[in-house]
Amino acid sequence: MSTKVVIQGAAGRMGKMLIRCIQEQKVAGLELAGAIDLWDVPDIGKDAGLAAGTKEAGVKLTTDLAAVAPGADVIIDFTSHFGTAGNAERIAEWKTAWVIGTTGLSDAELAEVNKAAKKVPVVMAGNMSLGINLLCNLVKEAAKALHAKGYDIEVIERHHNQKKDAPSGTALMLGKAAADGAGLDLNKSQVDGRTGMPGARTKDEIGFHAVRGGDIVGDHTVLMAGTGEMIELSHRATSRETFAMGALNAAAWVAQQKPGLYSMQDVLGL
Ligand SMILES: NC(=O)c1ccc[n+]([C@@H]2O[C@H](COP(=O)([O-])OP(=O)(O)OC[C@H]3O[C@@H](n4cnc5c(N)ncnc54)[C@H](O)[C@@H]3O)[C@@H](O)[C@H]2O)c1
Repeated sequence: MSTKVVIQGAAGRMGKMLIRCIQEQKVAGLELAGAIDLWDVPDIGKDAGLAAGTKEAGVKLTTDLAAVAPGADVIIDFTSHFGTAGNAERIAEWKTAWVIGTTGLSDAELAEVNKAAKKVPVVMAGNMSLGINLLCNLVKEAAKALHAKGYDIEVIERHHNQKKDAPSGTALMLGKAAADGAGLDLNKSQVDGRTGMPGARTKDEIGFHAVRGGDIVGDHTVLMAGTGEMIELSHRATSRETFAMGALNAAAWVAQQKPGLYSMQDVLGL
């Protein structure tokens, strides 16, 4: 039996890529059961497959999540931080599993997701690619070995000029991995950009630097700089397909899980 998937944010960059991957059956056993976006996107009312630039899906792009989600197995959400948090309560009521790729949620919005995860299985990750999730483990190990030896850790990320949040969810994942390895608390160590006269760098800070331009899909580098040498652990996404494939694998996995909040590390068994 197939897993029925609703795409929330279906007219967006990620939403269209997800629909293309489902329609082209890049992950076996998934069926598009709904495609939801806001009323003001131009393709509302059209076939979601055709709107995404792939074959006809027989599912229209609509605005009514409540009409499709309760009967579906999984909702995949790539929208905006307030959209995600705003749906948490009703998704918990519907008992539909949830994959969240949306980034930039505030602590209060994350609390809404956590509350929902007590009733439904949720996978949430600032980056759904295999490469980044593996890189987190490498960063953690390198930070563990190097921070105590005096190496400074900085995260540099580059994204397209339409990205709304900064630093990226991925940069924060990598920063958290570095902080965990170094035995630091990221809430205390995070320094976003530097300007004016911040003074000399302190040993325990982790700097984040966000570059925005053109159509960059997503570049991340964790720099560990010591005396006389520098290590750079980097990842470059060349297509959104890597995130979409991660999200679709997460959807197939989460539909079989008990309620709880899971990460891509759980999905990938890393
Ligand atoms: N976790 C990952 O691997 C990963 C990868 C890429 C992007 N992202 C994140 O996913 C999100 C979307 O990225 P994008 O590049 O596709 O953005 P986008 O702006 O191209 O698409 C977002 C879509 O969501 C729609 N939307 C917003 N609020 C909504 C709501 N309440 N209900 C329904 N639809 C709503 C918008 O109209 C838009 O069509 C961002 O937060 C981005 O940072 C995460």
